[in-house]
Amino acid sequence: CGIVGYIGNRDSVNVLIDGLEKLEYRGYDSAGIAILNDNNNIEMKKYKGRLAILKENIKEVNIKGNLGIGHTRWATHGEPSDRNSHPHLNPSKTISVVHNGIIENFNQLREELQGKGYEFLSETDTEVIPHLIDYYYNGNLLDAIKKAIERLEGAFAIVVMSKEEPEKLIAVRKDSPLIIGVGEGENFIASDIPAVINYTRKIYLLENEEMAVLEKDNISIMDFKGNVIEKEIYNVTWDISQAEKGGYDHFMIKEIFEQPKALRDTISPRITKDGSIKLDNINITKEYIKNINKIYIVACGTAYHAGIVGKSLIEKYAKIPVLTDVASEFRYNNPFIDEKTLMIVVSQSGETADTLAALRLAKEKGARTLALCNVVGSSIAREADDVFYTWAGPEIAVASTKAYTTQVAAFIIIALYLGKLNENISDSEYNTILKEVIKLPEKVDYILNDIFKVKDIASNMMNQDDIFFIGRGIDYNVAMEGSLKLKEVSYIHSEAMAAGELKHGTLALIEEGTPVIALATQDNLYDKMISNIREVKARGGYIIAVSKEGNTSIEKSADKVIYIPDTMDDIIGILSIIPLQLISYYVALGKNCDVDKPRNLAKSVTVE
Ligand code: G6P
Repeated sequence: CGIVGYIGNRDSVNVLIDGLEKLEYRGYDSAGIAILNDNNNIEMKKYKGRLAILKENIKEVNIKGNLGIGHTRWATHGEPSDRNSHPHLNPSKTISVVHNGIIENFNQLREELQGKGYEFLSETDTEVIPHLIDYYYNGNLLDAIKKAIERLEGAFAIVVMSKEEPEKLIAVRKDSPLIIGVGEGENFIASDIPAVINYTRKIYLLENEEMAVLEKDNISIMDFKGNVIEKEIYNVTWDISQAEKGGYDHFMIKEIFEQPKALRDTISPRITKDGSIKLDNINITKEYIKNINKIYIVACGTAYHAGIVGKSLIEKYAKIPVLTDVASEFRYNNPFIDEKTLMIVVSQSGETADTLAALRLAKEKGARTLALCNVVGSSIAREADDVFYTWAGPEIAVASTKAYTTQVAAFIIIALYLGKLNENISDSEYNTILKEVIKLPEKVDYILNDIFKVKDIASNMMNQDDIFFIGRGIDYNVAMEGSLKLKEVSYIHSEAMAAGELKHGTLALIEEGTPVIALATQDNLYDKMISNIREVKARGGYIIAVSKEGNTSIEKSADKVIYIPDTMDDIIGILSIIPLQLISYYVALGKNCDVDKPRNLAKSVTVE
């Protein structure tokens, strides 16, 4: 969910709507605002559906006030509905709250509060918060909030306003992100920086278990016990235009086309003129790497798919065993973590709750932690021992594209770096690979310059019910990401299979005309892959192959072939994913899907 709050002299409705627009990537099941109007009453408007619906509904009504909070929701407890939308109020409508996270003990609190006569209007976990604050309120809002949060279990970022104390907004952060935008005679609170960047570039990053009282001319930050905390201002250097569409129809296609630049920005600063890798700020030494016995790579969604490519690369070049897991499973799988484990977490946003929790568990158990992150200053970036930033720039579309390719690029660099430290890779191999890595951005550009064939293939896929992706080795890892992309944005059921595994079950699903996207880029697996393609073809499957330029013999077995430029097999995933991203985009476009904001999803999932 996305939260925004404003205190100052501006018309807060505009500031809130503007901020929520930038936060819609965090959820878009419903949206709402609460304003303290000029008569010192809380006026609230909230609707199921996109922010656009809220905007439409407030056009006619004239709500005015200089203090307000807003929310865009990704439903967890209670279906998306007007009633379940945020903000939520206490029964006497004096306190209003927006919340991101999950209150795990809400049922118990709800029963307790009901026992004291409190009525509930929604099915949300959030509604216990204004009621609890109301229960503890005794003339001091901050004290009441402190008492209330002591009772809350789970994750929460909350912002509270009250008509009893109209000169302040109070914010609390536990596990879900919050930042403060520092203005002159005005201040802002939000889940993420883009929400406030139109107004200020001066930011305070709230840490876990911190709270803040925002007044027009003052901000005080304290821990949950009330100890005052002095913070340094973080100055945002990137531009808001990087977070806007700039002529493209959708963020997804804009971000696909930004990949050459994103890759260049991620790769070049890490490779010196004399052709070796330098990782500033990453404090991993030869001695350390020789002493560890395993690496874990943990992440969610697309970041996880980058992680499994990372596993192959690190195992090959650094010869260190790598275990991978999705973050939501990792913690409950009794992971083998100790001081001899390097834990690598991968996260575009740096705020994914499951990934953050996995990172914390690994730290607790003594592992050293390295984060691959795209958002500077995010929770995961701050809490990890070392950070490798993917310089992809803001990624707004829910379906991740440039974050994925830059994460894979990061893994190539890390694998080579560790391989060198561990003395497992020869200088000549190291140099050859690095030379090829540097050429990747222009090869991506080359693919993006001719997308006619991909569009044509996509135009014949819109009416399909099921589409399969197959591959071996790194091709299989990329197939998983291709399949996720397609289902995320086009809602077509899709599965990725290790091509050699097909015959052990999934082949039964292939019928006359079933589309199968077959990746065949790996030289040492090429012949085996051709055999697998033939197995599918013999059952009526319609084969769309992705292979390297020059592999024309594949045309004998496939119905359509998409060629990508040649490069080394280990790094070709950065090229082979591009046509798959494009197919997903054009299929979704053809089906009139909401490409940037697919149904039921959110970009940044800050609940477990
Ligand atoms: C959400 C997004 C995915 C993303 C995943 C992990 O599910 O919709 O696109 O891959 O979270 O996000 P992270 O920010 O941790 O990379």
